[in-house]
Amino acid sequence: MSNSQAATPQYDYGVVKQFSVMTVVWGIVGMAVGVFIAAQLAFPALNFDLPWLTYSRLRPLHTNAVIFAFGGCALMATSFYVVQRTCQTALFAPALAKFVFWGWQLVILLAAVTLPLGISSAKEYAELEWPIDILIAVVWVAYAVVFFGTVAKRTTSHIYVANWFYGAFIITVALLHIVNSLAIPVTLTKSYSVYAGAMDAMVQWWYGHNAVGFFLTAGFLGMMYYFVPKQAGRPVYSYRLSIVHFWALISIYMWAGPHHLHYTALPDWAQSIGMVFSLVLLAPSWGGMINGIMTLSGAWEKLRDDPVIRFLIVALSFYGMSTFEGPMMSIKTVNALSHYTDWTIGHVHSGALGWVAMISIGSIYALIPWLYGKKEMHSVGLVNTHFWLATIGTVLYIASMWVAGISQGLMWRAVNDDGTLTYTFVESLKATYPYYVVRMIGGLVFLSGMFLMAYNVFKTMSSPAASGNTAAQPA
Ligand code: HEM
Ligand code: HEM
Repeated sequence: MSNSQAATPQYDYGVVKQFSVMTVVWGIVGMAVGVFIAAQLAFPALNFDLPWLTYSRLRPLHTNAVIFAFGGCALMATSFYVVQRTCQTALFAPALAKFVFWGWQLVILLAAVTLPLGISSAKEYAELEWPIDILIAVVWVAYAVVFFGTVAKRTTSHIYVANWFYGAFIITVALLHIVNSLAIPVTLTKSYSVYAGAMDAMVQWWYGHNAVGFFLTAGFLGMMYYFVPKQAGRPVYSYRLSIVHFWALISIYMWAGPHHLHYTALPDWAQSIGMVFSLVLLAPSWGGMINGIMTLSGAWEKLRDDPVIRFLIVALSFYGMSTFEGPMMSIKTVNALSHYTDWTIGHVHSGALGWVAMISIGSIYALIPWLYGKKEMHSVGLVNTHFWLATIGTVLYIASMWVAGISQGLMWRAVNDDGTLTYTFVESLKATYPYYVVRMIGGLVFLSGMFLMAYNVFKTMSSPAASGNTAAQPA
């Protein structure tokens, strides 16, 4: 499906529309599974004694669905839009772009079937078995060809910084996925990693941390660099800072992975390198956040009037918070308290809900009216309600996990005068129970906002175009 009446050049919005709609669909599915597993932690009977409903199988289903299905579709929708608009040219190889869409949906469906069946390589965020891994690699290379092919045939002289971030995300994820997934197949549904022992752990967390850095951060920063200035109607605060931000971020992220393996069999010097690079990472992260937020300087009143801008700016605030918290947690003495506790889970979701989900939701709310030739979303009031549900849901989630996590950490390390442990593990679990209920409620609140979004997007798409123009946004 291609657009019908864009001005020259003839942009290809079909695949952008498909990915945008699926962002909302997979967002609902992934977060609903998140709410369900949050409920299981509070009320374990919700396992129903069915193997494919056990927490251990649904947890990876949640992480895969929110990161790769929801986040992935948001990144593909926006990158295919942004690369066309900023390069002033239609997509390279539009048929291949269609393959990327259908291939990616197939990967998601295969994940949704195999994970509940218990088919897993047991590597976090890389659980899918080898045939699906090969499919991912093929689809990803096709994605890279379409994206970089479009950059190559651009009619503008320079490459806008958003594309640098999207480009780094695409190249790095290909590298991470291929190296970390190398495995020896035994059957169609079982393989063994080519790495072993501490080496396996090191490669896994080189992958895991850079999945955070490039999948959950760099791509979304590309989104930020396009949608914040566009929605604010102002140029990015500092183009020079954006270039420094880019090079600093991509060169430092690569080295920080060992902070996931503090106090393990990994050599101590490698752990220390991970910690130091994590601390340094604060600087480019905050540079980027400041660049985004300051883009609004002189137009702060838009925060009052435009809920879409509010989503984008609050997302940046959560980005700032989680990239402050992360370096603190990477300090070995702090990690001694936080590791294995729900503090980590709170940190994850301040990044995942506050940053990744909010910047995606804001960008899709900006994009949908542009794609469908509307002045704005069907109901701006509902966007505003969604904003508050998302913010309250995120705060309930992360605040409850902070309290739960720090309580757990302190209870586990408390010792009596005679050196015995003050609390049993079960006592710490009982103390956590109320916070698990609050987290579940926070998740439900966040999820309810996603249903409003689905309704609002559907109404915006299906109402007749005011101008009849499918490219409402100026270049
Ligand atoms: C309604 C919203 C959500 C709810 C209720 C929810 C709930 C949960 C729960 C209960 C866990 C397992 C925690 C544990 O094992 O102790 C989890 C893990 C996780 N979730 Fe979510 N989640 C939500 C949204 C998201 C989103 C949007 C993302 C990403 C964009 C995300 C990414 C993750 C990740 C990466 C983990 C694994 C964390 C780790 O291993 O440290 N979640 N989530
Ligand atoms: C400067 C930036 C950041 C640093 C230095 C950092 C550091 C850390 C540290 C030290 C941990 C705990 C490791 C452990 O004890 O197991 C962690 C966990 C995690 N962080 Fe961050 N973080 C940063 C930003 C972010 C952002 C923006 C996100 C999400 C969008 C994120 C997602 C995660 C996830 C998913 C985990 C859990 C991984 C797992 O154990 O499964 N981080 N991070």
